[in-house]
Amino acid sequence: MPIWSELKRDELQKLLALNRSRYEELKALGLSLDLSRGKPGSDVLDMSNGLLGALDDYRAEDGTDVRNYGVLDGLPELKKLFSDLLGIPVENMIVGGNSSLTHMYNTFALFYLFGAPDGMGVMDCKPWHREHSVKIICPVPGYDRHFNLTIDFGAKPITVPMCDDGPDMDETEKLVVADPSIKGIWIVPLYSNPTGQIISKEKAARLARMKTAAPDFRILWDDAYGVHHLWDEHRAPDILSACREAGYPERAVSFFSTSKVNFPGSGVGLVAAGSRTVERMKAHLRKQTIGFDKISQLRTVNFFEGKAEKVRLHMERLAAVLRPKFELVLDRLDSGFEGTGLISYKRPLGGYFISVDVPEGCAKRVVAIAKEAGVVLTPAGATFPYGEDPKDSNLRLAPSFPSLDELDKTMDVFEVCVKLAALEKAEKA
Ligand SMILES: Cc1ncc(COP(=O)(O)O)c(C=O)c1O
Repeated sequence: MPIWSELKRDELQKLLALNRSRYEELKALGLSLDLSRGKPGSDVLDMSNGLLGALDDYRAEDGTDVRNYGVLDGLPELKKLFSDLLGIPVENMIVGGNSSLTHMYNTFALFYLFGAPDGMGVMDCKPWHREHSVKIICPVPGYDRHFNLTIDFGAKPITVPMCDDGPDMDETEKLVVADPSIKGIWIVPLYSNPTGQIISKEKAARLARMKTAAPDFRILWDDAYGVHHLWDEHRAPDILSACREAGYPERAVSFFSTSKVNFPGSGVGLVAAGSRTVERMKAHLRKQTIGFDKISQLRTVNFFEGKAEKVRLHMERLAAVLRPKFELVLDRLDSGFEGTGLISYKRPLGGYFISVDVPEGCAKRVVAIAKEAGVVLTPAGATFPYGEDPKDSNLRLAPSFPSLDELDKTMDVFEVCVKLAALEKAEKA
C-alpha cells in the first residue's frame, strides 16, 4: 500500500468508504470505553491492600505515637526509605501529605508570596508577585497540571520542544540567559508524561549549570514516575547533586509521591530541595499544619518493611500487569498503521502514557469521532498549555485502567478514527 500522502483520488475514496463503514460498524456496538484515565486498574490497586489493615503498633521507631500531633517533615524511617529508593539525602526532604502536586503548588506559593534564596543560596530574592512578569518553561508535549498550576499563579508558560532525551537545551539555554522573567522549567525526568522518555545525564547537567538571567531560576523536577519501570530499570539523574556541584545548591526542587506506587490520592508526597529552601518551606509549612498524616506514613513504611528493595519488588509486580497493556496498545499501533506514514509515536520506557502524533489538524477530530463511537480519549491539546496544540496533532493514550479486552476494542476505534480523520483531511485538500 502506498504511503497515504501519496494516495491517488480513487484509492483515497475507496479507503474512505471502507473506513466509514468500519466506523459505523463499531459505533453500532454501543461501546462505552475510556482511554483517558492515567490511573491504575483495580487489579493493580489490589496489590496494595496490605496497607489497609489496622496498625499493630502505633509507635514510630523513635517512640513517637503516630496517632498524635507532631513531626512536621515526615517520619524518619519513611524519609530513610525514600532516601534509599531515590538517592536524596534525608536532610533535603519533606515528606507528608497525600499528593506531590500539593507540594508543587506550595513551592510556587513560596516563590510567589514570600520569595526564596537565589540559586546559589547567597541572597534572598523578592517574591515573584512583585515582578512585572513571570514565565516558566514548559517542555511540550507535557503534563497539563504543570501548565494549569503555572497559569493559576499568573505566570506565563513558554514552550520548548521535548526531545527523546529531555527538553531542547539549545533553545532553553538561549531563552533563560536572555530573559530575567523566566524563573523556572518543569521537568518530568523519568518516563515523562506523556512521551515516556528519560532526560539524559548530559541534559540534566546542562540545566544545572546553565547561566540564567534570573538569579532565582528553578528546576521543578517532578519525578512522579521515579520507580515506574515497564521494562528495564532506570533512574533519574541526581539533579540536586548536579546543581550543588555546579554552584547552584538551591536551584532544583524535586517531587515524588507514592500515588502510583500504592493508592493514588491516598499515598505520601515528597518535596526535596537545597537546605536553605527546605528550611524556608518548613517555616511556612508550620503555619499550615501541625503535622501531616503519620498513620499513612507508618503504614507505608510497614508495607515495605522499611526497605527500598521491597518497593522495587512491588513495582515489578505492578509492571507485570501494566506491561501487557502497553504492549497491546503498541502492537496495535505498529500493526494498524504500518506503512501508512500516518502516525508517529515513541515507545515509552516506563510511566503511564503513550504519546501519539496523528496528522496535523486531525487530533481534535479524532477525539470527537472516537467519542461518538463510545471511546473517551484525553482531550486533544491537553499536552500543551491552555489546551492549545498549535499543530492539533498530539494525543495521549493511557492504557493502565482498561482491561486487555477493553483496550483491544478501544484500539479498534482509535485506529479507524485516526484513519478516517486523516482521509477526510486528504479529501478536502
Ligand atoms: C507528571 C505527574 N506529576 C504528578 C502527578 C500527580 O501526582 P500526585 O498524585 O502525587 O499529586 C501525576 C499524575 O498523573 C503526573 O503524571
